[in-house]
Parts: sequence; structure tokens; C-alpha cells
Amino acid sequence: MAVQVYREGAAEFHLPQSAHVFYNPRARLGRDLGVLAMRAEAERLERPLEALELMAGAGLRTKRYLLEAPLQRIVVNDANYASFEVLRRHVGDDPRVELHNELAQRLLCRFYLEERRFDWIDLDPFGTPSPYVSHLTGVARWEGLLYITATDAPVLCGAQRGEALKSYDAVSAYGRECHEIGLRILVGYVQRRLVQANMHGRPLLSFFDGYCWRTLIRVFKGTRGLNVEHFGFIAQLPDGEYRATMAGVAAPVNHAYNPSTTIRWAGPLWLGALHDHEFLSAMYRNAHEEHFAHARRFLAKANRELDEIPIVYSLPVIADRLNKSVPSTRAAVKFLRAQGYRASHVHHCGNAIRTDAPLRVLLRLWE
Ligand SMILES: C[S@@+](CC[C@H](N)C(=O)[O-])C[C@H]1O[C@@H](n2cnc3c(N)ncnc32)[C@H](O)[C@@H]1O
Repeated sequence: MAVQVYREGAAEFHLPQSAHVFYNPRARLGRDLGVLAMRAEAERLERPLEALELMAGAGLRTKRYLLEAPLQRIVVNDANYASFEVLRRHVGDDPRVELHNELAQRLLCRFYLEERRFDWIDLDPFGTPSPYVSHLTGVARWEGLLYITATDAPVLCGAQRGEALKSYDAVSAYGRECHEIGLRILVGYVQRRLVQANMHGRPLLSFFDGYCWRTLIRVFKGTRGLNVEHFGFIAQLPDGEYRATMAGVAAPVNHAYNPSTTIRWAGPLWLGALHDHEFLSAMYRNAHEEHFAHARRFLAKANRELDEIPIVYSLPVIADRLNKSVPSTRAAVKFLRAQGYRASHVHHCGNAIRTDAPLRVLLRLWE
């Protein structure tokens, strides 16, 4: 079988040309950031990590982790035999690697019974991670990290809302702001599964990279550190204004309209911060090699966004509605700040803004 050679970061991969095993360049940022987060975490712990990679595919990520991050041991698994064979060839000789070829759910149940726990758990499925998330709670170390991916765009972006209920117990939303809402649905889902296991999480980095959603969450024992106000919904009023609401707080019903037909709800979802800025800075400091140039730019951008504000507006959507041209994001942010509101750019969309300003203030930008 013909073999193609790829290079990414410090690694080189030899992949057979096959339908089962392939190189996905769009997932590179997720791998770069994974390496940097592992470095930052090992620095914090002052020791190399014990990691579990549940769906390793052909081992591209595994090889990068082994070459570029401080690892004491990594348990690597993939259920697909064709992938596993390539995985074995890529990383099987490294004494730090323990290989498995089985369903992630089974492996997780066995590790739970064997009381094996990890500093880092990587879950990178095709589609939704939801069937596996509750199994992770039994194998994560206290203050360990979960790095979870979702690629089910039609589900998280409101095109398949029934599937969203099935996968995330949540209603997703269609529209230009769907990537933010999808990200918060994913984080909210993971948090609710953690809470059910008497744990809670703190997101260190959560992003949409134009291809998939990923969240890196530190898990803690117990639910004392949890703020219930970070669980809620985002409602879109008939005039297009978004509002965050939560249980126990009056819903933003505008009596001039019929709320049952005109208010769109999305959620439940995570209303809290998406990132831990100290951790992002530690990742940035660890990105010294040239091949991290893109990851560095991404981290700098994420570090400047006001991610604790869950409301995002797409400027082209408002401009379209007004039949006016789209202002620059920088001008919009500056304008809102000058009015005394908080505003920033959004890491996943160049012409959207995060703000706590009401829509009527934002509309003045076009006056
Ligand atoms: C997105 S790919 C992984 C890519 C890899 N992490 C990387 O960065 O190169 C998803 C992998 O999950 C594997 N997979 C799907 N369901 C699985 C399951 N239930 N248990 C274990 N592996 C599974 C597939 O065989 C596939 O190789």
C-alpha cells in the first residue's frame, strides 16, 4: 500500500493511503494546544504527566505528545483495527506507551474498577463526545485535566435540534452566533455530568476553531466551588437582543410580544468563563518553537477576549437587518467601551463582538 509522509510540529507520520486512516490538517491547532497545555500542566505539577488518550486514531497526537510534551506514561487506545495497526507502528516502541485496541467505554469501566487515574484524559471522537463523558469521571485525578472535542456541527449549531437534546440534553440554536452557543452547550454538558458525579470543573481553554469545538477542563472533587449562576440559558428576543438567564431569575419576557412564539431559547448551557487566563499565559510562555506561531497567535487572541461574557453578536447580521454596511469589529468594541459597557472581539469569529451592552446601545453604532 502507498505510504504518504506528513510533518507536523516535531513529528513525522507515515500514513498508508486508506479510507480509515488519514491526516486531518484542520485538527492541527487542537494538537498544538494540547501539547502546550500538557507543558503548562507539567510545569505546574513539577513532574511529567500520566495521560490517557482514548481515541488516538493513527497516533498523530500521541506522537506529538511523546515528542513535545513532558510525559511519564501514556495509555493509548483506538477501537478501529486499521487505525490501531498504524498507531502501533507509530508509537508502539516507546517504553512510555501502553497500547489498547478496544471500545473506550469498556476501557474506562475497567480502569475505574482497577482504580487507575490520570492527570490528562484526551477524548477526540468523530461527532459527539457525550456517550463517554460520564465514564471519564471515574478515571480523572483530582485537579486532573479533561481535553474533550466535539465535531457534530449540525447538532451544536441548531440544524439537528432533536439530536442536540439526545446528545447534550440541550436545545441548540441556528444562526450566525451558533458556534458560541454550541461551545457553551458542550461545556455545560460536561459540567452537568461532573456535578452528577459530585465533582465540578473549571474551563481552562474552550474554543471553536472553525472545524470543531474543544474544551480543556480541570476537575475538582465536590460541588462546593461551583457557581449555579453559571448554568443557564441564552434567550433571543424578537428584536434580536440576546440575554443570559438562569434558574431563579425572571425570564426576559417582553409583554409586547407573544413569548411562546417569539422568544428563542438555547440551552441549558454554560454562562461562566471559557478560559483561565493564567493558564493561557503559561501555555503561551511554553510555545517557544517556530511551529507554534499559529497557536501563539490564537492564545494571544483568546487571552484578550472577555470570555466571561456569554453574549455574542454577529455584526453582519445586524448590518443586514438595517441594510447598512458592516462596521469594523475594532470600531464596535471602541464605541461600546466609550458608552461604559464591556466589549471585546470573539476568538472564533472576526466580525462578531462580545458585550454586556443591550442591543439598543449597539444599534447606535450605525446612527
Ligand atoms: C477523530 S479520530 C481521532 C484522531 C486523533 N485523536 C488525532 O488527533 O489524530 C477518532 C477516532 O476514534 C476512534 N473511535 C470511535 N469510536 C470509538 C470508541 N467507542 N472507542 C475507541 N475508539 C473509537 C475511531 O476509530 C477514530 O480513529
